[in-house]
Amino acid sequence: MIRMSKEMTAFTMDIFSLKGKVAIITGANQGLGMGYAYALAAAGADLFIPHLTDDVSEVKQLVEGLGRKVVFLRGDLRDKKHIQEIVDKCLEEYGRIDILVNNAGMNKFCDFLDFQDEDYENVIAVNLNAVYFLSHKVAKVMVRQRSGKIINIGSALSFTADKKCPPYVISKHGVIGITRTLANELGQYNIQANAIAPGFFQTDVNKDISSDKAFYDKITGRIPLGRWGSVYDLMGAVVFLASSASDYINGWTLGIDGGFSTTL
Ligand SMILES: NC(=O)c1ccc[n+]([C@@H]2O[C@H](COP(=O)([O-])OP(=O)(O)OC[C@H]3O[C@@H](n4cnc5c(N)ncnc54)[C@H](O)[C@@H]3O)[C@@H](O)[C@H]2O)c1
Repeated sequence: MIRMSKEMTAFTMDIFSLKGKVAIITGANQGLGMGYAYALAAAGADLFIPHLTDDVSEVKQLVEGLGRKVVFLRGDLRDKKHIQEIVDKCLEEYGRIDILVNNAGMNKFCDFLDFQDEDYENVIAVNLNAVYFLSHKVAKVMVRQRSGKIINIGSALSFTADKKCPPYVISKHGVIGITRTLANELGQYNIQANAIAPGFFQTDVNKDISSDKAFYDKITGRIPLGRWGSVYDLMGAVVFLASSASDYINGWTLGIDGGFSTTL
């Protein structure tokens, strides 16, 4: 009989701890990213937050209130120079990168036939190309370390399409492809790449549609748990995927959508 007890008894809740780890979370000065930032800091990580918009005071106060360090870098993820700068500055500040959460994203709502090329290109540049370019650069650091966790943010629209947001749907389907590719390429270096696919959460990215009561109610009616998500619903999952509790999970996407993707 193969004895399991030696491996089993090595288990403690410390496998969820992120003490001593450094995490980059893009766009975490607001919205769901701020929740990922708080969760990773609460689990012990120090943070590096690249951000587009001005105000970082709320997330700074929250993270520092937990006794963790946070460093900010302002820039646009469509700019490859900014992407290189993220890696350089994070290494300068902390000397390592253990976790990358590719959270920043945008959407543009418009009828398909009226979509402007530029709007398509913008969404793809942020939601897809920046995920690839930043992961590619961070991976080189993680390969040297022989460890790392890459967590991409997909969407319920990674698995299905909806009208009026074609580039978003295309980009979020692509995020699953990037995740699987990274898992395939980097597993040999003890780097795990996984994704989270949130369902529906009221934030800036969907404020144009979520403030429409008919749409809000239609979506609520399709969610088996009967409610839109709260940022709190995502926080345990990001810690799990960033920690050694998920060391044998690689290339998967965890849907956090109240069951939305299971229904017709
Ligand atoms: N809210 C939802 O229901 C939902 C559902 C599924 C997936 N998501 C995804 O979650 C992630 C976070 O979105 P959110 O809902 O918190 O919305 P949000 O608009 O509050 O956050 C998006 C973040 O991305 C940043 N960003 C946008 N364009 C950028 C650029 N060019 N360069 C740098 N940063 C840029 C924004 O400044 C912001 O910090 C996104 O990837 C989004 O697609 C959200």
